[in-house]
Amino acid sequence: MKKARILEPTPENIKLCAQILKKGGVIAMPTETVYGLAGCAMDPDSLSKIFLTKERPTFDPLIVHVALEKPTLADLMREQVLYPHELSDAAVKKIDALVRKFWPGPLTLVMPKSDLVPDLATSGLDSVAVRMPKHPVARALITELGLPVCAPSANRFGCISPTSAQDVMEELGDKLDVILDGGPCEIGLESTIVRITDDGEAFLLRPGAISKEEIEAVLKSPVKLLPAGYTAGADGAQPAPGMLASHYAPSKKLILLPTPLAQMMTAPQLGRALPKKVGFLAMSGKASDAAITLSEILEVEVVAETLSETGDWTEAGKNFFKALRKLDASDAELLLAEPCLETTGIGFAIADRLKRAASPKN
Ligand code: TXA
Ligand code: MG
Repeated sequence: MKKARILEPTPENIKLCAQILKKGGVIAMPTETVYGLAGCAMDPDSLSKIFLTKERPTFDPLIVHVALEKPTLADLMREQVLYPHELSDAAVKKIDALVRKFWPGPLTLVMPKSDLVPDLATSGLDSVAVRMPKHPVARALITELGLPVCAPSANRFGCISPTSAQDVMEELGDKLDVILDGGPCEIGLESTIVRITDDGEAFLLRPGAISKEEIEAVLKSPVKLLPAGYTAGADGAQPAPGMLASHYAPSKKLILLPTPLAQMMTAPQLGRALPKKVGFLAMSGKASDAAITLSEILEVEVVAETLSETGDWTEAGKNFFKALRKLDASDAELLLAEPCLETTGIGFAIADRLKRAASPKN
């Protein structure tokens, strides 16, 4: 049974939401990337509600969201979420350059944690992930609360991320009281996550709308991809937290096709019988054309969604989770997706999400 109310982001409603957070509760808030399940970052009660509501394992650390007057490292230090004294001058300079360039916006930085941040927020790690969202409603809420806010994507753990208030209602409407409506998310993919190590090396932990190449241009040095076998768990036993092979997954089986539709001559070997109707996620072109072409190749009914008719990657990012959610809600019994072959920019972030969405579930 759905019990949540979707509220317009009026000053009164933002005050009401801040009150809920002050009392240790959680609400859903809009950001420019995806909707977040927000709780007070400094309150363990709020944090445990986040994990319970999402059914998220506590080894997967949260992102601390701040609203700064000026996006500088000095301003961030005033929030007392991080402890930068362990960092070399080189690392401090790099972090400050990224903060000045990309905040507010979809970039999360992993830095040494202050003791004031509860261990629950960081899964016991000695680092903390911080970002300053650009969405005015998120910023108004954090400012009204007067404390940083933890906000994982407002979906059930492992499922499709929400990019509208209605999506949150479908995911968590039975578990929340309030969903603050900030309209559809402008970016539609979660923030890029970068870790700057104590000696100033940069690692890309999660690709997003701010690309590796843009970050390298600011740092004037290479950003490394997550090394295979990277371990960040406190006991060294966990894989990179939150970067599980299966993530963002629809409830229906999703198979990533070996070739783009334009190169498909014969039906691909899928190792299973096809149902009467399949759903198809096209990277570009017209959905209706894709549905006809694939239907002829597979000889079954096809319902299709496209990420961007014109092949625009910004538009594709914005539509990605929305399209996946639509196909999941359709009457297709199996979902197929065109592979995303991009190795740079937003296309690379989509390729990452798509691979995880199609991975066997944990
Ligand atoms: O765009 C976003 O970042 C959205 C919106 C709501 O702001 N939030 C979001 O949060 O994507 P979430 O919880 O779905 O992703 C948090 C991820 C973790 O799964 C993990 O991969 C990484 O951030 N993370 C957090 N703390 C970390 C740490 N100390 N070290 C390494 N990775 C960390
Ligand atoms: Mg998530």
